[in-house]
Amino acid sequence: MKVVICNSNVEAAYIAADMVTAQIESKPNTVLGLATGSSPLALYEELVNRYRRGDISFACTTMFLLDEYVGLPVDHPQSFKTFIRRVFTDQIDVKAKAVYVPEGNALDDQEACRKYEVSIVEAEGIDLQILGIGSNGHIGFNEPSSSLASRTRLITLTEQTQRDNAPYFDHRNDMPTQALTQGIGTILDARSIILVAFGLKKRDVVKSAVEGPVTAMMPASSLQLHPNVTILIDEAAASELEHSEYYRSAFGGVTS
Ligand code: GLP
Repeated sequence: MKVVICNSNVEAAYIAADMVTAQIESKPNTVLGLATGSSPLALYEELVNRYRRGDISFACTTMFLLDEYVGLPVDHPQSFKTFIRRVFTDQIDVKAKAVYVPEGNALDDQEACRKYEVSIVEAEGIDLQILGIGSNGHIGFNEPSSSLASRTRLITLTEQTQRDNAPYFDHRNDMPTQALTQGIGTILDARSIILVAFGLKKRDVVKSAVEGPVTAMMPASSLQLHPNVTILIDEAAASELEHSEYYRSAFGGVTS
């Protein structure tokens, strides 16, 4: 696990954008996995800027969203499908039909999840997965106790996750209680992974994910089992790490 301690989320975004750019240059039909939330926003903004400058094209890429709420109208402003179009995919040249989102309004959730897994296999898997991390250590919407071998499925959101995401909705009661999420096993199938986390509120889960035991109670700790993970964090999110001096010397980033 490569831990890069950055000056800011903007510096992290440049590093991550360089990784995405290199991936697409090496494989134009790259399959990207996309996270929602606020942490990857600077990365999406930087990728849009590079597209507008003509430095990168997404025309041959395929993209898969990590998760989607269950029960929101498809065009709801806070559905992840609408969110990713607003902040990223509608501003670049990826084909609309090449952007896949779990079907949060399916009549048969299980069938929708099975089809999602099939779509990923038909795309020959995800080359580069972008992740954030929830305040309880979830990745996607894999809440604590999620099997480390789990696949795309319906999940009930914890009270904490509902609280964390409720501010995006006009009324607390509008916040969904369930979602479809790629499983931890699905995420770990990606050939490479970037996790971005910033701010003091993420320091404890970053510490647990990077330096704690691998446990279903800390879903992000499962990334320790993956051979190609880059953690991009700022000083605040790194502030509980015990071995940050080693990470700085081994992986670069802010020198103390
Ligand atoms: C939601 C998303 C996750 C995201 C998390 C953290 O739970 N399902 O994919 O990583 O929020 O969001 P933020 O980056 O805003 O802290």
